[in-house]
Amino acid sequence: MASDTSSSSAALSAVVAGALAAMKSAPTTDALKAALAQALGKKGELSILKASLGKITDADERREFGQLINSATEAITAASNERRSELENVERDAQIGRERLDITELLLAPSATQRQGRMHLVTQSTERLEDVFIGLGFQIAEGPEVESDFYNFEALNMPPSHPARSMWDTLFIDADPQGSVVLRTHTSPVQIRIMQEWPPPIYAIMPGRVFRRDTPDATHMPVFHQIEGLVIDKNITFADLAGTIEAFTQAFFGSDFTSRLRPSYFPFTEPSAEFDIRRPDGTWIELGGCGMVHPSVLQAGGLDPQEWSGFAFGFGIDRMAKERHGVGDLRDMYSNDVRFLGQFT
Ligand code: DAH
Repeated sequence: MASDTSSSSAALSAVVAGALAAMKSAPTTDALKAALAQALGKKGELSILKASLGKITDADERREFGQLINSATEAITAASNERRSELENVERDAQIGRERLDITELLLAPSATQRQGRMHLVTQSTERLEDVFIGLGFQIAEGPEVESDFYNFEALNMPPSHPARSMWDTLFIDADPQGSVVLRTHTSPVQIRIMQEWPPPIYAIMPGRVFRRDTPDATHMPVFHQIEGLVIDKNITFADLAGTIEAFTQAFFGSDFTSRLRPSYFPFTEPSAEFDIRRPDGTWIELGGCGMVHPSVLQAGGLDPQEWSGFAFGFGIDRMAKERHGVGDLRDMYSNDVRFLGQFT
């Protein structure tokens, strides 16, 4: 009997040693699973030894050997768990390594470094306009896009219910009292704001976004850009206005372009005109409005019409950019398609 047990314990030790070695060296979790099954599975080596328990007739020896088998099972299970967590770490690292995307290669490729962002067409045109007018001695001012009825209409010589208000399809802000706050329909309200703030003489341009209740089409957008000009000084005449428009036209479009003024009506100027520019091929484009600042507008700006006079003008920047770059449809400028926008340097 004693020899039975000792041969069984020797077999058990061999099984345990073999199993532990197999676990330790298992190269993958699958290999580990197979090693574990071989040791502890239903038909595994330990099960076979367990089955031989019944053959041990001595109760003490049987209990002792049973305990040996139990601790062998525990040792093998612990070794397997330890190896599994090691292998899982290794395998996870390998997977992360495989899935890793090396973007430095992309960033360092010459084609990527050459692909630089650009200013939007309208920004480019605005900056060019600013340069031209700064060259003519003008300063740049800005005003709010959400504007009061007073600045957008009333101070510009359009009291409530004035029919000329319908020249602008206005977007109203839901405010109290109703109709008192608008999205500015033009940059002209900034004229009033700077007259109130800056002591004359004033030579200023005021670029910015404006809003109208319009359906987008090739030549209209509900949100677009204008640039306003205002000159206030002593003895300013209509000839100064015409000369400034001409100087700007040639500086912006080129010396083969010229400008003309046509009589028109705006409530905030008297007399008023629209100005067109002539392309080298002899065709004309309508660009904007202008005129001599109306006395009521000077007064709304806090200036004495007896002492000061001036002219103003305003036109759409988007249309100028469209013209300058031969863009067919204004909507293309706002579709944010870089294949389109990237063409304009
Ligand atoms: N604010 C006018 C518009 O949006 C354009 C304009 C006309 C501006 C005459 C002026 C001006 O300063 O004098 O249609």
